Amino acid sequence: MGKDVIIACDFATAEDTYAFLDNFSGRKPFVKIGMELFYAEGPSIVKELKSRGHKVFLDLKLHDIPNTVRKSMMVLASHGADIVNVHAGGTTRMMAAALEGLEAGVPADGERPLLIAVTQLTSTDQDALEEDLLIEKPIDQVVMHYALNAKMANLDGVVCSAQEAEKVHNICGKDFLTITPGIRFADGDIGDQKRVMTPAAAKEIGSDYIVVGRPITQADDPVAAYERCCNDFIG
Ligand code: C5P
Repeated sequence: MGKDVIIACDFATAEDTYAFLDNFSGRKPFVKIGMELFYAEGPSIVKELKSRGHKVFLDLKLHDIPNTVRKSMMVLASHGADIVNVHAGGTTRMMAAALEGLEAGVPADGERPLLIAVTQLTSTDQDALEEDLLIEKPIDQVVMHYALNAKMANLDGVVCSAQEAEKVHNICGKDFLTITPGIRFADGDIGDQKRVMTPAAAKEIGSDYIVVGRPITQADDPVAAYERCCNDFIG
């Protein structure tokens, strides 16, 4: 899979998601499904999106004891998603167990989904890290350490802010994928995101996939906004 724009389909129901994606007529964007939609609709939403021709990033961010994550990943492997993820904070052992489960659970005729680690959530800042989690290190050092742990566990990459993508590539190698949310057009609303970057800047810095939600889903013309992202990011 090469560089692509992933639309964060943060809708409450499958019906709303399909209605939104029907606007794209011939095009089949890569989509991200989060916990809210998956918990409401179950595995059928992944299967349906795949049968409609979309690639699917199933963003469930697993974080539990290694045995539970391994067994859960065995189940998730059968749903047909293209990318799944875990929290790097669950330890290197947990990430390795996740990969083991995925490999064991892939159907004979299927492909293993890419396995990505969330480093630190963008909602966690330096104060929260120190005061709430008692981690007394600079946040970018923690992010890079978690990225290296993910690499050691043979994961395929990390979710990180676009600002961190270049450093992650320098430390973990160019083939280690960086998936970057927090993307905004220069003339658009920032909303609740803190550290944002334009699709063009994310391309420049070497991000592999950008995850874009509201700048596309809430646009007056979502298809035009998606095309603009693709032009700016993929070229
Ligand atoms: O609407 P917006 O473009 O901000 O959506 C970004 C998407 O990426 C949301 O689905 C959000 O949950 C997700 N995300 C994020 N920051 C992270 C991890 C995931 O914004 N660190």
